[in-house]
Amino acid sequence: MTSTNSLSGFKLHNTTYRLRRPSTVSPPYHDGGGGGGGDGLRKSKFSAAFNCNYPTEDQYSRPNQRAWAHWIKLKQPKLIVAPMYDGSELPFRMLCRKYGAEAAYTPMLHSRSFAESNKFRSREFSTCQEDRPLFVQFCGNDPDILLEAAYRVESICDYVDINLGCPQRIARTGNYGAFLMDDLPLVKSLVEKLASNLTVPVSCKIRIFPALQDTISYAKLLEDSGCSLIAVHGRTREGRTRERANWDAIKSVKNAVKIPVLANGNIRHMDDVQNCLTTTGVEGVMSAEALLDNPALFGGFRSGEWVTDGEDGFEDGKLDRGDLVIEYLKLCEKYPVRWNIIISHVYGMLRKWFETHPDIRADFNIKRNLSFEYLYSVVDRLRARDPLVLYQQSTLGLDGGRRNDGGGNIKNR
Ligand SMILES: Cc1cc2nc3c(=O)[nH]c(=O)nc-3n(C[C@H](O)[C@H](O)[C@H](O)COP(=O)(O)O)c2cc1C
Repeated sequence: MTSTNSLSGFKLHNTTYRLRRPSTVSPPYHDGGGGGGGDGLRKSKFSAAFNCNYPTEDQYSRPNQRAWAHWIKLKQPKLIVAPMYDGSELPFRMLCRKYGAEAAYTPMLHSRSFAESNKFRSREFSTCQEDRPLFVQFCGNDPDILLEAAYRVESICDYVDINLGCPQRIARTGNYGAFLMDDLPLVKSLVEKLASNLTVPVSCKIRIFPALQDTISYAKLLEDSGCSLIAVHGRTREGRTRERANWDAIKSVKNAVKIPVLANGNIRHMDDVQNCLTTTGVEGVMSAEALLDNPALFGGFRSGEWVTDGEDGFEDGKLDRGDLVIEYLKLCEKYPVRWNIIISHVYGMLRKWFETHPDIRADFNIKRNLSFEYLYSVVDRLRARDPLVLYQQSTLGLDGGRRNDGGGNIKNR
């Protein structure tokens, strides 16, 4: 990965990014050292490119000093792999990191199982030295058990994250995730317990309330309880993934708290990243579903369907989807995970290819006793039929000239 930085722009993954406007703001602090590699601010690739928000004197005052110092030590990652159960496991995180992701979440881990079962831990969690910055996400509703689980990972991650956003029936039954929005004193006790006992900062991933003021009060409660970073999924507990995320609510949270905030929802490609950062003013964005289709999203690659009519500059860098799948499979051989996870990723990355070759998909669907050899052979068969590539923008204008509103004008290739 090459990364150069100048006043006029910078280059990343052979893509030239033009500056929206040179930043002239001098940060009022220094990197605390210890893992950040010196002057984290000036080395940050994206902080210069996006019209980004250095913490103000006010924000940098106690008690948020620790939150900002930590964020800066991590070099202020802007492009983040969201937590995905059976989705953001180690090999996939490493693939996304190779293609531009600057930090990643583990899938949600059940705190009780994690605290109590060696078997669960070794089956559901793995990491490696290069897998940083890393958020390890837990769900749960018992402060002591959550802490017990968190103790086991605090030395090998950068945040212990509490899942306050899962809206699924299993979370309702288990009373965790987004269902804790009905019991804010319990949420407060979870955050306080972790924040006052762990050496690593605590982050929370939340959904929004239907009423903006409730969302703001919620975010402030988390901050006051010792949370060091809030990731806001801009949908309500009842909101469906297909609904547009509410970036205005995320912006309001960002303005209301004095700790780093991440935005989540509707990030499909780098134009969305730019628009979201500009609209909300947050420190970084997370993407989930779009990465399952295109793990190279943060490297500036996008699927043909997102290349809009009349746009140029997409032909310079092409990435063969087959190569991406093979890279993923090699990572799985190196860092073993459950087969069902591997299959669902291979399926996700090949889905568009399968659509044009349903006979190969049908063979894949009925195949028993899957092996890596078989999966490599599926890629070979697809490649023999036709190429399917992801397109990289050679120049990504950050001057607001090209905006994708998530609506029409999408060209299907
Ligand atoms: C397959 C899948 C698994 C997910 N698992 C988790 C999870 O374990 N923890 C969590 O907080 N959110 C989870 N989510 C939600 C995502 O992190 C994210 O909040 C949501 O998909 C919205 O982001 P997107 O619009 O980029 O997809 C999951 C989403 C998907 C698609």
